[in-house]
Amino acid sequence: MSDSPSTTQPDEELLSEARAVADNAYAPYSGFHVGAALRTRTGKVYTGANVENASYPLGVCAERTVLSCAASDGVRPGDIEAVAITASPCGGCRQWLLEFGVARVVFAHAGGVQIRSADELLPHSFILDT
Ligand code: THU
Repeated sequence: MSDSPSTTQPDEELLSEARAVADNAYAPYSGFHVGAALRTRTGKVYTGANVENASYPLGVCAERTVLSCAASDGVRPGDIEAVAITASPCGGCRQWLLEFGVARVVFAHAGGVQIRSADELLPHSFILDT
């Protein structure tokens, strides 16, 4: 994998928020807690954790929780400065991050921190070409 840019102080703060909200994950089935924190270009911060369900596929990842929360508050593609996550985003969440045009995805991975754009995380992505 190519070199990741270094984290900035705001990235570290956002990742701390993600780590804090991971404590609130509802993950009785996997026991795997994930936290995500999103900062808008106006400086508003949203946080979200994974929420599992007895019907396993219905569980929601932390990234989708936080993006849904922000979108419900009126945040739209282009409004997001960065999203920090305590784990590497899954394929489906990469598609969600792409939808919202997230240019700075900061995530903990293999003992380090990676920074990538949603485009880099999902190259040659699906586009609804009508
Ligand atoms: N999970 C996330 O919250 N985000 C991801 O990008 C990967 C996986 C959650 C889903 C499930 O609750 C748990 O981690 C184990 O897969």
